[in-house]
Amino acid sequence: MSVRKALVFSKDEIRALKESWYVLWGDKTNNGIKMLMKLFKMHPESRAFYKEFKDLREQDMPANKRFRGLALSYMYKLTEYIDAVDDPDTLEDLMVTTCKAHHRRGLGPKHFKWMGSVMTSMVKETMKSTYLTELHKTSWTKLMDALVVVATDVQKTLKEESLDKIQIPEMTGVWRSPHNSPRF
Ligand code: HEM
Repeated sequence: MSVRKALVFSKDEIRALKESWYVLWGDKTNNGIKMLMKLFKMHPESRAFYKEFKDLREQDMPANKRFRGLALSYMYKLTEYIDAVDDPDTLEDLMVTTCKAHHRRGLGPKHFKWMGSVMTSMVKETMKSTYLTELHKTSWTKLMDALVVVATDVQKTLKEESLDKIQIPEMTGVWRSPHNSPRF
Protein backbone atom coordinates (compact mmCIF):
# COMPACT_ATOMS: atom_id res chain seq x y z
CA MET A 1 0.00 0.00 0.00
CA SER A 2 1.26 3.51 -0.77
CA VAL A 3 2.28 5.71 2.16
CA ARG A 4 -0.29 8.38 1.16
CA LYS A 5 -3.17 5.88 1.06
CA ALA A 6 -2.21 4.40 4.42
CA LEU A 7 -2.34 7.82 6.08
CA VAL A 8 -5.84 8.86 4.99
CA PHE A 9 -8.61 8.25 7.55
CA SER A 10 -12.36 8.67 7.13
CA LYS A 11 -14.36 11.05 9.34
CA ASP A 12 -15.81 8.06 11.26
CA GLU A 13 -12.37 6.54 11.80
CA ILE A 14 -11.04 9.89 13.05
CA ARG A 15 -13.96 10.19 15.47
CA ALA A 16 -13.42 6.61 16.70
CA LEU A 17 -9.69 7.22 17.23
CA LYS A 18 -10.25 10.50 19.10
CA GLU A 19 -13.04 9.04 21.25
CA SER A 20 -11.01 6.01 22.30
CA TRP A 21 -7.86 8.09 22.84
CA TYR A 22 -9.81 10.43 25.12
CA VAL A 23 -10.55 7.44 27.39
CA LEU A 24 -6.95 6.13 27.34
CA TRP A 25 -5.47 9.60 27.87
CA GLY A 26 -7.64 10.04 30.97
CA ASP A 27 -5.19 7.84 32.89
CA LYS A 28 -2.14 8.38 30.71
CA THR A 29 0.74 7.22 32.91
CA ASN A 30 -0.98 4.03 34.04
CA ASN A 31 -2.23 3.25 30.55
CA GLY A 32 1.27 3.87 29.14
CA ILE A 33 2.66 1.41 31.69
CA LYS A 34 -0.06 -1.13 30.83
CA MET A 35 0.69 -0.67 27.13
CA LEU A 36 4.43 -1.37 27.48
CA MET A 37 3.77 -4.34 29.78
CA LYS A 38 1.29 -5.67 27.24
CA LEU A 39 3.92 -5.35 24.50
CA PHE A 40 6.32 -7.43 26.62
CA LYS A 41 3.64 -10.02 27.38
CA MET A 42 2.16 -10.36 23.88
CA HIS A 43 5.54 -10.15 22.11
CA PRO A 44 8.23 -11.33 24.57
CA GLU A 45 11.02 -10.81 21.97
CA SER A 46 10.41 -7.05 22.31
CA ARG A 47 11.91 -6.95 25.83
CA ALA A 48 15.45 -7.55 24.62
CA PHE A 49 15.47 -4.12 22.94
CA TYR A 50 14.78 -2.28 26.21
CA LYS A 51 18.25 -2.82 27.64
CA GLU A 52 17.62 -0.72 30.72
CA PHE A 53 14.66 -2.84 31.78
CA LYS A 54 16.13 -6.21 30.92
CA ASP A 55 16.45 -7.30 34.53
CA LEU A 56 13.50 -5.35 35.93
CA ARG A 57 10.89 -7.67 37.42
CA GLU A 58 7.38 -7.28 36.05
CA GLN A 59 5.96 -6.37 39.45
CA ASP A 60 8.55 -3.58 39.84
CA MET A 61 7.80 -1.93 36.48
CA PRO A 62 4.87 0.30 37.55
CA ALA A 63 6.92 1.95 40.32
CA ASN A 64 10.18 2.33 38.40
CA LYS A 65 10.64 6.01 37.55
CA ARG A 66 12.51 5.41 34.26
CA PHE A 67 9.82 2.97 33.16
CA ARG A 68 7.05 5.42 34.12
CA GLY A 69 8.84 8.20 32.22
CA LEU A 70 9.22 6.10 29.08
CA ALA A 71 5.57 4.98 29.29
CA LEU A 72 4.49 8.62 29.42
CA SER A 73 6.72 9.49 26.41
CA TYR A 74 4.88 6.78 24.41
CA MET A 75 1.53 8.30 25.38
CA TYR A 76 2.63 11.79 24.30
CA LYS A 77 3.89 10.44 20.98
CA LEU A 78 0.55 8.71 20.36
CA THR A 79 -1.24 11.97 21.26
CA GLU A 80 0.75 13.69 18.51
CA TYR A 81 -0.46 11.06 16.02
CA ILE A 82 -4.08 11.47 17.15
CA ASP A 83 -3.81 15.27 16.85
CA ALA A 84 -2.56 14.88 13.27
CA VAL A 85 -4.85 12.05 12.18
CA ASP A 86 -6.81 14.41 9.89
CA ASP A 87 -3.61 15.83 8.36
CA PRO A 88 -1.73 13.09 6.42
CA ASP A 89 1.41 15.19 5.74
CA THR A 90 1.95 16.03 9.41
CA LEU A 91 1.10 12.49 10.47
CA GLU A 92 3.68 11.16 8.01
CA ASP A 93 6.33 13.55 9.34
CA LEU A 94 5.66 12.49 12.96
CA MET A 95 5.78 8.81 12.05
CA VAL A 96 8.98 9.21 10.00
CA THR A 97 10.66 10.76 13.07
CA THR A 98 9.59 7.80 15.24
CA CYS A 99 10.73 5.29 12.60
CA LYS A 100 14.16 6.93 12.16
CA ALA A 101 14.73 7.02 15.94
CA HIS A 102 13.81 3.33 16.17
CA HIS A 103 15.76 2.30 13.03
CA ARG A 104 18.96 3.33 14.87
CA ARG A 105 18.07 0.73 17.49
CA GLY A 106 17.57 -2.03 14.91
CA LEU A 107 13.77 -1.70 15.02
CA GLY A 108 11.70 -1.68 11.85
CA PRO A 109 8.34 -2.63 10.29
CA LYS A 110 8.30 -6.12 11.79
CA HIS A 111 8.52 -4.68 15.29
CA PHE A 112 5.98 -1.89 14.74
CA LYS A 113 3.54 -4.54 13.52
CA TRP A 114 3.42 -5.82 17.11
CA MET A 115 1.80 -2.56 18.22
CA GLY A 116 -1.41 -3.26 16.25
CA SER A 117 -2.47 -6.11 18.55
CA VAL A 118 -1.21 -4.23 21.63
CA MET A 119 -3.28 -1.13 20.88
CA THR A 120 -6.49 -2.96 19.95
CA SER A 121 -6.19 -4.94 23.18
CA MET A 122 -5.62 -1.69 25.15
CA VAL A 123 -8.69 -0.08 23.57
CA LYS A 124 -10.79 -3.20 24.18
CA GLU A 125 -9.81 -3.36 27.84
CA THR A 126 -10.09 0.34 28.63
CA MET A 127 -13.41 0.91 26.89
CA LYS A 128 -15.12 -2.35 27.73
CA SER A 129 -17.43 -0.85 30.34
CA THR A 130 -18.40 2.15 28.21
CA TYR A 131 -19.22 2.04 24.52
CA LEU A 132 -16.67 0.06 22.58
CA THR A 133 -17.47 -0.42 18.87
CA GLU A 134 -15.84 -2.47 16.12
CA LEU A 135 -14.65 0.79 14.53
CA HIS A 136 -12.70 1.74 17.67
CA LYS A 137 -10.64 -1.44 17.21
CA THR A 138 -10.28 -1.40 13.42
CA SER A 139 -9.25 2.27 13.40
CA TRP A 140 -6.37 1.51 15.78
CA THR A 141 -5.30 -1.43 13.60
CA LYS A 142 -5.32 0.97 10.64
CA LEU A 143 -3.27 3.64 12.49
CA MET A 144 -0.65 1.10 13.57
CA ASP A 145 -0.61 -0.42 10.05
CA ALA A 146 0.12 3.09 8.73
CA LEU A 147 3.17 3.20 11.01
CA VAL A 148 4.31 -0.12 9.50
CA VAL A 149 3.91 1.27 5.95
CA VAL A 150 5.91 4.41 6.90
CA ALA A 151 8.58 2.26 8.63
CA THR A 152 8.94 0.14 5.45
CA ASP A 153 9.43 3.29 3.38
CA VAL A 154 11.93 4.78 5.87
CA GLN A 155 13.90 1.53 5.95
CA LYS A 156 14.10 1.49 2.14
CA THR A 157 15.20 5.15 1.95
CA LEU A 158 17.84 4.76 4.66
CA LYS A 159 19.19 1.63 2.96
CA GLU A 160 19.44 3.45 -0.39
CA GLU A 161 21.15 6.44 1.28
CA SER A 162 23.73 4.23 2.96
CA LEU A 163 24.44 2.46 -0.35
CA ASP A 164 24.94 5.87 -1.98
CA LYS A 165 27.57 6.73 0.62
CA ILE A 166 29.73 3.68 -0.17
CA GLN A 167 32.83 5.02 -1.95
CA ILE A 168 34.46 2.93 -4.64
CA PRO A 169 38.22 3.35 -4.03
CA GLU A 170 40.24 4.95 -6.79
CA MET A 171 42.05 2.23 -8.76
CA THR A 172 45.72 3.00 -9.09
CA GLY A 173 48.37 1.01 -10.89
CA VAL A 174 45.81 -1.37 -12.32
CA TRP A 175 46.11 -2.29 -15.94
CA ARG A 176 43.15 -1.13 -17.99
CA SER A 177 42.54 -2.63 -21.39
CA PRO A 178 41.84 -0.07 -24.11
CA HIS A 179 38.29 -1.46 -24.26
CA ASN A 180 37.28 -0.54 -20.73
CA SER A 181 39.33 2.64 -20.34
CA PRO A 182 37.21 5.69 -19.65
CA ARG A 183 36.63 7.88 -22.72
CA PHE A 184 37.43 11.57 -22.37
C1 HEM B 1 3.47 2.91 18.34
C2 HEM B 1 4.73 2.54 18.26
C3 HEM B 1 5.84 3.17 19.05
C4 HEM B 1 5.95 4.46 19.48
C5 HEM B 1 4.99 5.61 19.28
C6 HEM B 1 7.21 4.55 20.20
C7 HEM B 1 7.67 5.68 20.83
C8 HEM B 1 8.84 5.77 21.55
C9 HEM B 1 9.27 6.95 22.27
C10 HEM B 1 8.50 8.26 22.34
C11 HEM B 1 10.46 6.67 22.83
C12 HEM B 1 11.32 7.61 23.69
C13 HEM B 1 12.07 8.58 22.81
C14 HEM B 1 13.18 7.92 22.04
O1 HEM B 1 14.16 7.50 22.71
O2 HEM B 1 13.06 7.78 20.83
C15 HEM B 1 10.80 5.29 22.48
C16 HEM B 1 11.93 4.62 22.87
C17 HEM B 1 12.19 3.30 22.64
N1 HEM B 1 11.40 2.43 21.92
FE1 HEM B 1 9.63 2.86 21.05
N2 HEM B 1 7.84 3.32 20.16
C18 HEM B 1 7.02 2.45 19.49
C19 HEM B 1 7.24 1.10 19.27
C20 HEM B 1 8.32 0.41 19.75
C21 HEM B 1 8.51 -1.02 19.61
C22 HEM B 1 7.50 -1.95 18.92
C23 HEM B 1 9.70 -1.32 20.22
C24 HEM B 1 10.39 -2.65 20.41
C25 HEM B 1 9.98 -3.78 19.98
C26 HEM B 1 10.26 -0.08 20.72
C27 HEM B 1 11.47 0.03 21.37
C28 HEM B 1 11.98 1.19 21.94
C29 HEM B 1 13.23 1.24 22.69
C30 HEM B 1 14.17 0.08 22.95
C31 HEM B 1 13.36 2.57 23.14
C32 HEM B 1 14.49 3.14 24.03
C33 HEM B 1 14.08 2.93 25.47
C34 HEM B 1 15.03 3.57 26.46
O3 HEM B 1 15.23 4.79 26.43
O4 HEM B 1 15.56 2.83 27.29
N3 HEM B 1 9.39 0.94 20.43
N4 HEM B 1 9.80 4.77 21.70
